[in-house]
Parts: sequence; structure tokens; C-alpha cells
Amino acid sequence: MSLVLDRPLAVGSAPGKLILFGEHAVVYGQTAIAAAVGLRSTVSLWHHDGPTHIRNSSFDDFRLRRAVSMALPAHGIAVDIGSELPPGRGMGSSASIAVAMVRAAAALAGEQPEREALFERSLALERIFHGTPSGVDNAVALSGGLLRFRRGPPLELEPLELAQPLHLVVLDSGSPGSTAELVAAVRAARPRVDRVLDAIGRLAEQATGLLDDHKALGNAMNDAQAMLVLLGVSTPRLSELCSLARDAGALGAKLSGAGGGGVVVALAEPDTVPAILAAAGRREVPAFALQLPIPSASPEPT
Ligand code: MEV
Repeated sequence: MSLVLDRPLAVGSAPGKLILFGEHAVVYGQTAIAAAVGLRSTVSLWHHDGPTHIRNSSFDDFRLRRAVSMALPAHGIAVDIGSELPPGRGMGSSASIAVAMVRAAAALAGEQPEREALFERSLALERIFHGTPSGVDNAVALSGGLLRFRRGPPLELEPLELAQPLHLVVLDSGSPGSTAELVAAVRAARPRVDRVLDAIGRLAEQATGLLDDHKALGNAMNDAQAMLVLLGVSTPRLSELCSLARDAGALGAKLSGAGGGGVVVALAEPDTVPAILAAAGRREVPAFALQLPIPSASPEPT
């Protein structure tokens, strides 16, 4: 086989994300702050004589098949999907696959769409997974960096600058949470939880002004976690991981994403990060450290 045939027809990739403030409230038009992470998803499209299909079986589920049928021609493509992001952990794996797929599809068609068009296309795919996504995960997967997001209309997307890097530790609860189910549960609890949703949104807006005051930002993360507990999306395990991080010296900790499982994100001074990782290690909690901004989390041109 020639080398040319061994190359994909098109490739798209996009990073995952962590939500620092505003999850759930963002679905109802409130502000969220979210950041791209260094872990990415990639979609490669290969020539194939026959119907378009997903060829790596671990990603061959019915929702991804629907996404492929929406985004790509019905014939002639074998799709390889790869992701470094753990599924169901609130780190935006489905949105990053959706953005990677629309980027690959655009490259296949020889198009260079505006970011708004890619956003809308990827949101249509994300709806297959989550029904009523706010779009924050897709916006971060497309733009990279640290963003203030409000769904609008009009959509507000503001890159946030940091005077000092933020040092974060991500602790994995080891169990997945279903974004679709948790968003539906919050919807069913309205209007009873509307005041909590408003408070979460107000806190996210305030936090945009606290990004360089790490102590205040950590306190705000603890407040956000208390509100997410009131909202009913935290779990005893997530609360336990927040306490573990705080007891080991974190400035603040909260669940990140839809909750019900998934990850906790803790903010730390750089010299406390090893102690938090060690405390997680002693309890056999998978954990890793990351720093914002992450240069490698910027979007790729494909
Ligand atoms: C999921 O990553 C974040 C939620 O706010 C849902 C959404 O924004 O679509 C729970």
C-alpha cells in the first residue's frame, strides 16, 4: 500500500474542559467559568469502500453512530475516534468529540467555517448526548483557554486573563455521572431550586473578578460546592474528595461538571500540590495536577 493511502483523509481534534464555576446554572442563562485542559479527543476520517461507519469498537455506540450520520457523508468513510478524556467524568469528553468531528468533517469537505458555524454544528451533535446542553463545553473545546461563558442570546464568550497561573488538582471519584440525567433532575426540581441556580450564577460572575486572589477564589469554590450540594447534584463521595483536598491544604474544592460522579477540582498554592496528590494517593484516589493557562489546550487548526 502506498504511503498516501495510509494517511487519513481528514483529522479534527479538540480539548476537554473543567468547569470552575456555574455548572447547571449555565443551562438557564447564568454565567459559567470554564477552562480547556490538556487532554484531547481526535477524530480521523479514512477512505473506505462502503457505508460510513465507526471502526474502533470502543466508541461504536448508538449516539456516536447518530452523530457520525449527522456530520459525515453516508458512504465512503471509516471513522476512528480517540479520546484521552475519561467518559462521564464531567471533563467534556462528548463535546470534545463533537467538536473534533465537525472539524474533521469541515476539513473533509474542504471548508473553513467560521467558529460560530462550528459551534452550532458541534452543539447539534452534543444534543444527541445531553438533550439540552448550554454550549459551555463546546465553546471551550472550540476556543481553548479560560473563558467566561453565557449562552444568551446573544452568546457571551470572554477569554479571561490570569496574572498568576492557577494550580489545580483533579481528583477522580471513580464513578461516572450522567449529564443528561442530572440536568433533567435539576430541571424537574425547578422552580424549587431556582434561588440556588441564581446564587450559583451570581457566584460565577463574582469569581471572574477574583481570579488573581487565590484565597478568595478558593473560598468561592467552597461556596460553589455548598450550593451544588443544595442543588442535589453532589454525592457523599464528591464531598469526601473535597474534604480530602481541603484537609491536605487546598484553598478550595468543588465538583466540576454535572456531578453525580465524575471529578472534583481543587485550587492550591503550588507548594501544596504535592501534599494533595500524596493524600489522594494514600486513599487510592486517582488524581493529577494541572496549571492554567495550558498552552497545549489551545485549539488546533483542523
Ligand atoms: C456539563 O459539563 C455542565 C452542565 O452545566 C450542563 C451544560 O452546561 O450543558 C451540567
